[in-house]
Amino acid sequence: MGYNLLKGKRGIIFGALDENSIAWKTALKCHEEGATFTLTNAPIALRMGKINELAEKTNSKVIPADATSTEDLTKLFNESVEELGGKLDFVLHSIGMSPNVRKGKSYGDLNYDWFLKTLDISGVSFHKVLQTAEKNDSMNEWGSILALTYIAAQRTFPDYSDMAQAKSVLESIARSYGYRFAKLKNVRVNTISQSPTVTTAGAGVPGFDVFVDYANKMSPLGNASADDCANYIAVMFSDMTRMVNMQNLMHDGGFSASGITEALVEELSK
Ligand SMILES: NC(=O)c1ccc[n+]([C@@H]2O[C@H](COP(=O)([O-])OP(=O)(O)OC[C@H]3O[C@@H](n4cnc5c(N)ncnc54)[C@H](O)[C@@H]3O)[C@@H](O)[C@H]2O)c1
Repeated sequence: MGYNLLKGKRGIIFGALDENSIAWKTALKCHEEGATFTLTNAPIALRMGKINELAEKTNSKVIPADATSTEDLTKLFNESVEELGGKLDFVLHSIGMSPNVRKGKSYGDLNYDWFLKTLDISGVSFHKVLQTAEKNDSMNEWGSILALTYIAAQRTFPDYSDMAQAKSVLESIARSYGYRFAKLKNVRVNTISQSPTVTTAGAGVPGFDVFVDYANKMSPLGNASADDCANYIAVMFSDMTRMVNMQNLMHDGGFSASGITEALVEELSK
């Protein structure tokens, strides 16, 4: 049962690939909370994924866009405003991909063309989304724009490789653009730093199962699930959080503030 938190709000949700995607759960939650939105993903992901199933469930239109293409993004924002019948109140950037991680390149042997691709897809694309929203004047006053990130931007998790740099870029863009958009239109920009979550992007990181187990034991509340993340995103899109801006918001069951936990001591004492 929803709370009508997003009644009358319009938005764009990037990155729903399949039912495990954080963006997928978010779309279901936003729909339940009364929002209308368009769904988008890279053209190749649209062919491989199941987004049409989600579109049917949430009564939304799918508009293809490669998030690294400002041309695609311009089309996406303009079509979304037209389709939804007005300017937007929220945008979710839920995008991540590293060719180096995907192809098993070690951190000491990075392919630099791929490194730049990682930065473009997973970091700079957030700037492109924000700049397009600004240039096309697509946002309503007091709108909320979010991107998803991971704590590897602050601490080293070796197998996260060049994605760590991309997430640092992403979080920095949220601060810089959060200032700019607030001054221009009272629009807030934040990142949510989510627990490891079993999804296509997550499972691409080597040793991911161990990672998930470690984080779970290291978090007093346990790992935050994709559904928990969707709930948090809905609140961040609502009018209940209008003054939260330029923040990297930890959504991790307490992981980032824990030094050691009993669960981990028990495990290591075995
Ligand atoms: N799964 C985790 O453990 C975890 C933890 C913290 C943060 N995150 C972040 O959450 C976000 C969503 O990932 P997820 O875990 O739901 O996995 P996912 O694989 O379901 O989603 C990633 C999405 O990025 C899309 N994408 C890739 N290249 C694109 C491009 N050029 N243009 C547009 N879209 C593109 C993919 O098609 C996919 O839908 C990512 O930013 C990820 O880094 C994930």
